[in-house]
Amino acid sequence: MRTQVGIVGAGPAGLLLSHLLALRGIDSVLVEIRSRDYCEARQRAGVLEDGSVRLLREAGLAQRLDRQGLEHGGIYLQFGGERRHIDFRDLTGRTVTVYAQTEVVKDLIARRLADGGPEAIHFGVTDTQVVSLDTDQPVLRYTDADGSRHEVTCDAIAGCDGFHGICRSAMPRELRTTVEREYPYAWLGVLADVPPSTDELIYAHHRNGFALHSLRSPTISRLYLQVAADEDIGNWRDDRIWAELQERFALPGWTLRQGPVLDKSITAMRSFVSAPMRYGRLFLAGDAAHIVPPTGAKGLNLALADVAVLAPALDQLLTGNTELADAYSATCLERVWRATHFSWWMTTMLHSTPGADGMEAELQLAQLRYVTTSRAAATSLAENYTGLPLAAQGR
Ligand code: FAD
Ligand code: PHB
Repeated sequence: MRTQVGIVGAGPAGLLLSHLLALRGIDSVLVEIRSRDYCEARQRAGVLEDGSVRLLREAGLAQRLDRQGLEHGGIYLQFGGERRHIDFRDLTGRTVTVYAQTEVVKDLIARRLADGGPEAIHFGVTDTQVVSLDTDQPVLRYTDADGSRHEVTCDAIAGCDGFHGICRSAMPRELRTTVEREYPYAWLGVLADVPPSTDELIYAHHRNGFALHSLRSPTISRLYLQVAADEDIGNWRDDRIWAELQERFALPGWTLRQGPVLDKSITAMRSFVSAPMRYGRLFLAGDAAHIVPPTGAKGLNLALADVAVLAPALDQLLTGNTELADAYSATCLERVWRATHFSWWMTTMLHSTPGADGMEAELQLAQLRYVTTSRAAATSLAENYTGLPLAAQGR
């Protein structure tokens, strides 16, 4: 078999890349180890930056997003018994849109299958391998869901296979630098069948730990609690979760509505960057190359931003011009490091660090007071949260 671009992973990065390439008339083969149902149900991110919404709109993918996405003009920061608003619209003229990653993935899968037929995405594959990466004809191998082995000769391969994928480690170890930090806490995420109790997201700093009130729709809430890094989900019955959420969000005159818990899971908190994002004809995008803790809502947006840079770079590479492909890694890493800093900053400002001294606790409060009273500091948060313009990446 032969294709122009082999793509590993049908998460947001791989799916959007295959669509952006198709818009440019470039063929791709996309392989995914999970089933379509699994990919569409996996609970993850929920906030799209202004630039991500524009990107999806320009790519003709925003019909449902424009109908069902909820535009938010700011967030609340809660600490010391007060809830203060950061007004993104006023500070930056930009907004974010609450639209779940599950919905982005459903839209992308539906569009790829409608445009490319059932062969556009191969779900349920096993034993994915990428080889001959330092040649002009890299090869993607996989076993399909019926057990047949395939070998696809490509012009380039995109490793969009997430943090646990195989592509990053297919690069020679001595050519990669990885920088990593694990945080001493995790997030317990809850999907609840109850209308949100807030019009915009609430990020709450509390002595018991951080809490976040997000949402999925006008009838479904998404809530998170800071828990211990090695926490066992078995310790968290629904009534304990609600009691803890009630305590961390408590504010006179405001009530947190409770409802049936539909899903709960624990996510580790990590910052991770592997550079460069390219080796020969293998290009990494999204979580395959970098992970941020979710406090800044950046992971999904970074994955989309990477492939917005990669699609034109591959288009040019296939015509024999390597300029954009050569710049790909550095172009992406500039945004990645900005988002890595912002996510680290939001995380360390808002969480309770186990064993922290009184100095650290007071510095966090001083920072929270500053960011909610100084227009300059609030603008910095707003600019980062709503996202750097994609145009800054030479799209
Ligand atoms: P992924 O979405 O991970 O997609 C990679 C795909 O590759 C997967 O479908 C995987 O099955 C497939 N794959 C893996 N290995 C292979 C292989 N060998 N062969 C073929 N396919 C393979 N971000 C936020 O902003 N907010 C959040 O609340 C949030 N919560 C998260 C919770 C969890 C548990 C995780 C893991 C991430 C979360 N993120 C969150 C981050 C965000 O969801 C990711 O940044 C985003 O999914 C990145 O998209 P991606 O396409 O790069 O990778
Ligand atoms: C979410 O809705 O899942 C979400 C929102 C904002 C974050 C992280 C997660 O910072």
